[in-house]
Amino acid sequence: MTSGPAENLASGESPDTRELEEARPQFISIPPETILNGQKAPFDLYVIIGSKQVRVFKQGEPLERERFERYLEKGDEALMARVDGIDSFFETGIVEMLAQAADQSLGPAVRARGAVRALEFAGLDLFLFGFDRDNFFTKVDRVHQILQVTLGLIQEDRTRPYLIASRQTEKMPNSVMQMVGATLIGGALLHKLQSVPIPTFQSFLLATYFRDISLMKNGISDRPSYDMHPEASMRIMEGYPAITEQFRLVVQQHHESPGGSGFPKGLRGLDIFLLAKIPLAAEKLTELLKLTDLSPSDETDILEDIALERFSRDSGISPVHRMRELLREAREAQRMRTVRTRA
Ligand SMILES: [Fe+2]
Repeated sequence: MTSGPAENLASGESPDTRELEEARPQFISIPPETILNGQKAPFDLYVIIGSKQVRVFKQGEPLERERFERYLEKGDEALMARVDGIDSFFETGIVEMLAQAADQSLGPAVRARGAVRALEFAGLDLFLFGFDRDNFFTKVDRVHQILQVTLGLIQEDRTRPYLIASRQTEKMPNSVMQMVGATLIGGALLHKLQSVPIPTFQSFLLATYFRDISLMKNGISDRPSYDMHPEASMRIMEGYPAITEQFRLVVQQHHESPGGSGFPKGLRGLDIFLLAKIPLAAEKLTELLKLTDLSPSDETDILEDIALERFSRDSGISPVHRMRELLREAREAQRMRTVRTRA
């Protein structure tokens, strides 16, 4: 029997236990607005029409929007690139997106989109190409830098909902979606639940992004058993200069649950660091945001389940209220984005 996302959420099953190994795509989508700039195509670009890939731009041809738009009626709205031809794109693409995120003259929705794309591309790079001892800390540095820019956006009330609404969830592999979704939604939730110093906030975001890194393809360690992946992720990150005690606790305890049913240690209640309870709650909110036909009472039931499983008896915070507020803001930003795109 299969169950829908709502049932999985309600049953308390973590979404990331369902897929241990994902198929690596041959093609990935490149958001058109990040590349259609009139300059030369860095690699061949395609659209998918039916089951075929049709080449729109040959490497070296100018990336003109009009040409892409002629294919839009027949095909998908994204441009596709062959995974084996794009490795250098991540470097330049991320730098451009980061510049967009940091540009104070741009509106909040545009800056948010730059930040989200940069985080998604950094995640996609880890997912597609993996990492080894020689390049891992360079890849972590890149995410750290993106998060330093994103921190300001997450703390800015006007931008935060757009960050959540901008995620291209349907076009990303699940593991990348969970990295980015839990980091951004987790950051927003932390902001609502508790006021913490900026370095703690940074540690939280970085730890949330890399919490499952040991489950990705890499040349540093073998794939751990699922219930040892928090410890294995921490071992891979060990030695990175920005690691703090808060970082360590978030990575090691992100699957612990106040009722004692979590892993790897089965810690209980207040023995679990509050910030470590947030990433999995955020993963569930990520799933919840994808559901468009949920009644308010079903939503309340699910939020109460999440609160009970993740935060039970934590005093001084009201997670259901905060999570509901966050969903409302993100849905509002999603609606505004849809209206603007259609106009
Ligand atoms: Fe995990």
